[in-house]
Amino acid sequence: MSSATTLWRHARLATLAGPTGYGQVDDGALVVRGECLQWVGPVADVPSQLDVTAEHDLHGALVTPGLVDCHTHLVYGGHRAHEFEQRLQGVSYEEIARTGGGIRSTVAATRAADEDSLYTSALARARQLMREGVTTVEIKSGYGLSAEHEARCLRVARRLGAELPLTVRSTCLSAHALPPEFAGRPDDYIAAVCAWLPALQAQGLVDAVDAFCEAIAFSPAQTQRVFDAARQLGLPVKLHAEQLSDQGGAALAAGYGALSCDHLEHLSPAGVAAMARAGTVAVLLPGAYYFLRETKLPPVAALRDAGVPIAIATDHNPGSSPTLSPLLMLNMACTLFRLTPEEALRGMTVNGARALGLADRGQLVTGQRADFAIWPHEHPSEMSYWLGQQVQPRVVWGGQERTA
Ligand code: NIG
Ligand code: FE
Repeated sequence: MSSATTLWRHARLATLAGPTGYGQVDDGALVVRGECLQWVGPVADVPSQLDVTAEHDLHGALVTPGLVDCHTHLVYGGHRAHEFEQRLQGVSYEEIARTGGGIRSTVAATRAADEDSLYTSALARARQLMREGVTTVEIKSGYGLSAEHEARCLRVARRLGAELPLTVRSTCLSAHALPPEFAGRPDDYIAAVCAWLPALQAQGLVDAVDAFCEAIAFSPAQTQRVFDAARQLGLPVKLHAEQLSDQGGAALAAGYGALSCDHLEHLSPAGVAAMARAGTVAVLLPGAYYFLRETKLPPVAALRDAGVPIAIATDHNPGSSPTLSPLLMLNMACTLFRLTPEEALRGMTVNGARALGLADRGQLVTGQRADFAIWPHEHPSEMSYWLGQQVQPRVVWGGQERTA
């Protein structure tokens, strides 16, 4: 690891230090040593005894923590534009899923693709996220749905993490849909998932375990079996919960100390309370809400009142959220879900990191990883204000500035 010390000065910092507020420092400096932030504060107070090897003048540009996209399904084959057309003509997402389309159509396309082409398409998507300031991304499996194909998708996620400056966390979402070879036998499929999970973990492919608890996917009892298998392996859990109906999934996941529950449009007051007790993060996904033309809003006020941390993510996937713009998601979190721009930014930095169990990033404070982005803005509210402008920040990953 390099021990070079770099000084970035004359930045308008949005540190997000502390529980609320942007943590602004108007004429700020960052001192980076190796991969970490060694010092953060006003330029006037930069310690004089530092052995600085390089300096950058940011001329008042805004600096935020690197963005954390804590919920994506980046690895898949094909696309589902034809289903988009069907849905616009009135066929529902559930109907498409029940008649063999939906996730299962992407499973067929993913199985038909070889590992290199899955890698190439996912690489292009990851680079697009990076260009908008993403420094950490979570990638779920869930379009392979067999031991072999799930391992392949998770290997692609690991390879992206190894070859890009991006940090990649991989989540096993084998309980995403019922593959055709298990038609009519969901309990047998869940048994198979629980049986292959230890091997995936032994290959170092899994950081967390997720499931889709929904009428068109798996029941709470089936979800619980997956969570028990994860717990046996010491793996943290997350859940696609209460997206299309209230299944009590969030309370179930909170009982397992889940890192996050995601979607949550149909979350009940009991679910909110259980998440608050467990410290589970609420990951809201405005892209899926918008693209599926949902009308039921997640209970943002109740989450806020209960002190549940709120994260925002792209949920990039070919069926319900084919976006690769984290900045557009910040905007939609405000316009559709009525988050404040500050809440939205926290949602894609510090709270996104928390949804992944990562305490070493998401704020610009001493000791954190030196992942940050430099924006052509005067105020952090502009992060969610500029709509579809394709703003491209300069990005520093673990202390090194690179081009995505
Ligand atoms: O997060 N809800 C389940 N999973 C994905 C969508 C998957 C798909 O339609 O391909 C989601 O929205
Ligand atoms: Fe998802």
